[in-house]
Amino acid sequence: MLIDLEKRQHGPEEMDNPDLAEADIKAVLEDINKVNRLLNGHAPLVKWLIRDITEKNLQNVTILDAGCGDGELLRILSRRLVAAGIRARLLGVDLNAKSLKLARHRSKESQITYIEHDLNHEFPDTWSPHYVISNLTLHHFKDNDLESVTANFLRSASEAVVIFDLHRCRRSYYLFKIFSAIFIKTKIAVHDGLVSIRSGFNKPELRKLSERFTQADCELRWKWAFRFLMVLRPTKN
Ligand SMILES: C[S@@+](CC[C@H](N)C(=O)[O-])C[C@H]1O[C@@H](n2cnc3c(N)ncnc32)[C@H](O)[C@@H]1O
Repeated sequence: MLIDLEKRQHGPEEMDNPDLAEADIKAVLEDINKVNRLLNGHAPLVKWLIRDITEKNLQNVTILDAGCGDGELLRILSRRLVAAGIRARLLGVDLNAKSLKLARHRSKESQITYIEHDLNHEFPDTWSPHYVISNLTLHHFKDNDLESVTANFLRSASEAVVIFDLHRCRRSYYLFKIFSAIFIKTKIAVHDGLVSIRSGFNKPELRKLSERFTQADCELRWKWAFRFLMVLRPTKN
């Protein structure tokens, strides 16, 4: 029988277990990075961001990555910003101290700073990012918390919130099963990948979430491989 993905389902992701050993976190994040590389994982978000900053001619831009993991997206972004001649301050925020330790170790780029913080809590004013970006993190939150977490992002971002997350559908679920059997090494990444798809989103759900923010314009697009790019832009009076 085919899996029922009508509603979001939350099983715990092993990655969210605070007792998970550093070596396991490292191996799982390497698997996630590999999936992202093979499936064009960061490209739509990075492309959108560079184009928006360039169009607005912003300088000294601050970008906050909410749920940054081991900082892979920020390192890619850093290279792309340097190549585009854009000066930036990059903040990686995550709850998991072990992932942040790994991120600091891997990031030699001086403009990246990592901060331990729970996204359920408001961001301090001193961070004042132009953009809050979030890749594969929103699906970690239960329905009841989605609005408050997204509100924290929107309260803090002066230009836009850019969320890139999973499309929950059967095609994605079964394709991931085949893909993971070939390319993924760790059992945890396979388990968490399937849990993540089950707790991902469909378009009406993200549209409904965006409609709760009357002070923001929403752009919502489907991207390969089975992800949604949702941009919330505060309306300026
Ligand atoms: C699937 S990983 C994605 C990591 C990274 N964004 C990437 O694309 O590779 C989700 C991340 O969200 C973080 N996370 C989950 N709940 C969080 C919370 N309440 N506050 C801060 N970070 C959280 C986890 O620690 C994890 O690093």
